[in-house]
Amino acid sequence: MKEKKKKSQIRAVLIGAGARGRYAYGKWGLKNKHKINFVAVAEPIEERRIGFANEWNVPNNYCFSNWEALLNPEIGKLADACLICTQDKMHTEPALKALELGYHVLLEKPMATTEEECKKLVKASEKANKQLRICHVARYTTMFSKIKKAIKDGLVGRIINIEHSENVAYWHFPHGYVRGTWRRADDSSPVILAKTCHDLDLLYWLVESKAKYIHSFGELTFYKSKNTPEGAPDRCTDGCPVAEDCPWYAPRLYIKGEPILRVTKRSNKRWLRVIGNLLINHRKISKILSYIIKPLRGLVKWNRWPATVITEDLSYEGKMKALQEGPWGRCVFKCDNDVPDHQIVSIQFENGTTATMTMHGHSYLDGRWIRISGSKGSLLGRFTYGGEKLLYYDHRYVDERVLWESDITFEAHSDGDAGLMESFVNSLLIGDKGENEVLTSARASLESHLMGFAAEKSRLGKNVVDMDDMR
Ligand SMILES: NC(=O)c1ccc[n+]([C@@H]2O[C@H](COP(=O)([O-])OP(=O)(O)OC[C@H]3O[C@@H](n4cnc5c(N)ncnc54)[C@H](O)[C@@H]3O)[C@@H](O)[C@H]2O)c1
Repeated sequence: MKEKKKKSQIRAVLIGAGARGRYAYGKWGLKNKHKINFVAVAEPIEERRIGFANEWNVPNNYCFSNWEALLNPEIGKLADACLICTQDKMHTEPALKALELGYHVLLEKPMATTEEECKKLVKASEKANKQLRICHVARYTTMFSKIKKAIKDGLVGRIINIEHSENVAYWHFPHGYVRGTWRRADDSSPVILAKTCHDLDLLYWLVESKAKYIHSFGELTFYKSKNTPEGAPDRCTDGCPVAEDCPWYAPRLYIKGEPILRVTKRSNKRWLRVIGNLLINHRKISKILSYIIKPLRGLVKWNRWPATVITEDLSYEGKMKALQEGPWGRCVFKCDNDVPDHQIVSIQFENGTTATMTMHGHSYLDGRWIRISGSKGSLLGRFTYGGEKLLYYDHRYVDERVLWESDITFEAHSDGDAGLMESFVNSLLIGDKGENEVLTSARASLESHLMGFAAEKSRLGKNVVDMDDMR
């Protein structure tokens, strides 16, 4: 009998060519054109739509200005997979429609902004027998894969307790949750879902047990008007008297990328520390050098995230205009934000393990810390822009073992975005039903989303939530 020839490339359509769609998953695709081909795009912003279409040679008749047009039943199914990267409140409808049309769906987190919609999505994917993969990219990083493996290999023994923290940097938190897109829960989703659904998902994945009880505290304490420095105008660009000393002075982040470049100081590589110092302190020299050293250009001009979020025009003038007129140039103390800037969650799992998760927007360095204490040993992990390190301590010995270490990164999710895409695309190419496919199945994602909704209920109601009432 003739063996069925395996596919070597999947066809995909993209809904929402923004920061995630174009610059995370589209960017991965451009480096992996042998594995994926985007054949259609839906995006209302013309520059983004055209930009993406040009990168992928998408013909005009397959460029749509909204998802409804792309997922029109009269047009039918155009590809194997549909990537949905629209904003939080615009996930459910296109995902349901795409599943109905027979697409495998890669859906950005949070899968939806209400419990009912999340449950509806899971049912729809199971009915359609199609993948609904939620972009919990942290699971796909080398760091958290190593942690999972160490647990599976029995290094920790029985997990007794986990302390986990998502330390969002003082510059990153305002970008997303004070000035930016997720600053108001009613427009997007509660911060515990928008920022830490990855973390709740990691805990559920590592503990391998459902949560039984959840409790949470948190509030917006700092990024509010009563903390405005004297004389500060509404916008950083309006001649702020404290600009020099203010850590949140917007041009420093969006024009120069300075807070992010500062991680180079933590690099093990001397040349990287030198380059970082040049870029931060000697702009003219680095500009001249960038004419000779091509990779320096993007860093000097800072045409990277988060500048790519505030404007399509990444020239100095374009970025300044965005700061003068758009939300990201506002004083962090004078925005219309309402989501907490710190929140803690305590979890009692059904198997007896306890965990605490802390999220706050006041960290010197962006990243996650985790400490897993078990009956045989402990794992201590640091997963930050400033480098990654995973240590293991066996109860019987005093010495520590380094299980994983890597240098600084400018990538917000380390190798997680690439890992997710690799896994999703491979599962469609190889038809993998193994570890990769179940890694972020919709049903598993539902569990961690319900933990997030429960945490928010507890924070607002000041009570302990029984997870049986959520399911
Ligand atoms: N996995 C992660 O770690 C991670 C990180 C950041 C953001 N996210 C999530 O990814 C999603 C997208 O975030 P983003 O930062 O890329 O946002 P974005 O605003 O940059 O991109 C969303 C895009 O959707 C487009 N859009 C709006 N209406 C549309 C319609 N009717 N049809 C098609 N497209 C439409 C917008 O014009 C925009 O370009 C959000 O849900 C966010 O929470 C996930």
